[in-house]
Amino acid sequence: MNIKWDADKYTSDFSFVHHYGNDVMELITASKGSSVLDLGCGNGALSKTLQEKGYTVKGIDASRELLEIAKKNYPEIEFMHSDAANFSLQEPVDVVFSNAVLHWIDKERQPDLLQCVYQALNKEGQFIMEFGGYGNNQFIHESLAQIFAEHHYSYKMPFYFPTISEYTTLLENTGFSVRFAALFDRMTELKGEQGLKDWINMFLKTPLSLIEDEGEREAIINEAAENLRGRLYRSGKWYADYVRIRIKAIK
Ligand code: BEZ
Repeated sequence: MNIKWDADKYTSDFSFVHHYGNDVMELITASKGSSVLDLGCGNGALSKTLQEKGYTVKGIDASRELLEIAKKNYPEIEFMHSDAANFSLQEPVDVVFSNAVLHWIDKERQPDLLQCVYQALNKEGQFIMEFGGYGNNQFIHESLAQIFAEHHYSYKMPFYFPTISEYTTLLENTGFSVRFAALFDRMTELKGEQGLKDWINMFLKTPLSLIEDEGEREAIINEAAENLRGRLYRSGKWYADYVRIRIKAIK
């Protein structure tokens, strides 16, 4: 899926995405100096943290808008424009790290992505990943599906959120050995009184683009936020109902 990112807003209002990525790095057991590919590096914030931990880091991403920010903020790191399901490296790396990216790749393209990662790793290299797992943002997608239908549109959930068994099977079919896998809930605080509407506008551009009339689009988002208030607004704060899948696999 190709979406055009509002890169500045993503960096300023959705920084939780890379803050949570710090925990995922704890699964890396490669020694300092090892080479790491940050797959779907976005604005490069986690590539920088990986570098500060002593790794030699490269980043790839499909968004030119986010890469521009990454290159400007961290000129000392090599960032490249590439599709996660169609890339190759000149030199293999010891670790491929990926945070909050793999759910953007359609199910049909996941075997290609895993093949690219496999080829990009040295023998015994580590693939460390976290992304949206089965049931991710279910309240939000269910509510939007209902409101789209009331407005005579059909809502297509644009992400791939697999179960543990589905994804570990794909990894094993590629040749990986899975050493750790978990699926867990993480209610995630959003920023400000418009938090949920901002989240919907930022991440659901593809289904929203079906609705040409701006007023109707805004009405649908408002209705969804009101519909979800009882479940996702607590003590003056909006939350998104995230479910994460976190895996460590070895080549
Ligand atoms: C996620 O990180 O799980 C996610 C973020 C934005 C849209 C969908 C999923």
